[in-house]
Amino acid sequence: MELCVIPGDGIGKEVIPSAVRVLQAVMPDIQIHHANAGFDCLKTTGTPLPDETLKLAARCRAVLFGASDSPSFPVEGYYSPIIQLRRRLDTYASMRPTRYLPVPTARAGVDLIVFRENTEDLYIVDEQTDPTGQSSTASKVITRNATERVTHRAYQLARQANRKKITIVHKANVLPQSDGLFRRVALEVAAQYSDIQTDELLVDTAAYWMVKEPTRFDMILTSNMYGDILSDMAAAWGGGLGMIPTLNIGDNAAIAEPVHGAAPDIAGKNIANPTAAILSVALLLRYHWKREEQAQQIEDAVQKTFEQGYHTVDVKKENAVSTDTFTDQVIAALS
Ligand code: NAI
Ligand code: MG
Repeated sequence: MELCVIPGDGIGKEVIPSAVRVLQAVMPDIQIHHANAGFDCLKTTGTPLPDETLKLAARCRAVLFGASDSPSFPVEGYYSPIIQLRRRLDTYASMRPTRYLPVPTARAGVDLIVFRENTEDLYIVDEQTDPTGQSSTASKVITRNATERVTHRAYQLARQANRKKITIVHKANVLPQSDGLFRRVALEVAAQYSDIQTDELLVDTAAYWMVKEPTRFDMILTSNMYGDILSDMAAAWGGGLGMIPTLNIGDNAAIAEPVHGAAPDIAGKNIANPTAAILSVALLLRYHWKREEQAQQIEDAVQKTFEQGYHTVDVKKENAVSTDTFTDQVIAALS
């Protein structure tokens, strides 16, 4: 088994080495290959995603990615390396599970998965501004193909993850063509999986319930943009951005990454929460490498570490430990 490791920018350089240490503790034979991408990489190499990185990622078919520091204004030569990587490895679905862990910032009883389409919608990033600079448009693309395959994948994963209900989220009342197509095709495919219950919600209503009563959700299936937003909302119930993992999945490759970004405000201080990165590795083990036992071992160790009272400063100020100490405790709790 081979893993392409891309720490990227900011706290990616701290939490990814933590996650790799935990992975090596349960899979001593894993072959780790380090690669470069991100904003710092643009500054040193002239590109945010060098060809060697892409080649290595494609060869390993498994990637652990930290974060990239994406400026919110155009920078010559910059594009998001993670969006490009997801596209190149055709990881057409993304799953973000949020499950309660015993930290004061989390909400008891929450245990849900946001499953989203990962290749199209507004994230094809096709934007245009007219010559006056006063009007811009962005294209939202929804296709039958992409919706079909992500829906099949969602229902198959629901079976594997022992989920009982999938809520399809859209805004087909306002966008009857694009979101209407997503809704129609998703419901069509859902009908083939009678063992899993299906319902649907408009995205604004889903956002309301995500805040008001997150325990009512089991699994959400939605398009790219809504999934991005709803999964960050869900992350708040999981104890914060530092807690929640992601797995991008395709038919032949997977990219594990924490939900959070490069967090420049805390980078370099050894205080970042490595939980999201560590749990991302567990997802890779379970859903890509089919190593359920090791995945569970890591998840149990994280749970035990919190139960023992270890935590980083983002979830509780008093008695917070460093990124490294928290990681040492997770490794000690593996058994
Ligand atoms: P962010 O997730 O980096 O940080 C948001 C807040 O959460 C900050 O206060 C940060 O300190 C805190 N935080 C995040 N992860 C944490 C962790 N593991 N432990 C403790 N605290 C944590 O989002 P923000 O500030 O909007 O973006 C910063 C940069 O990261 C931007 O350049 C943005 O474009 C990029 N970004 C990259 C992503 C990716 O590569 N997948 C995803 C989100 C943002
Ligand atoms: Mg996001």
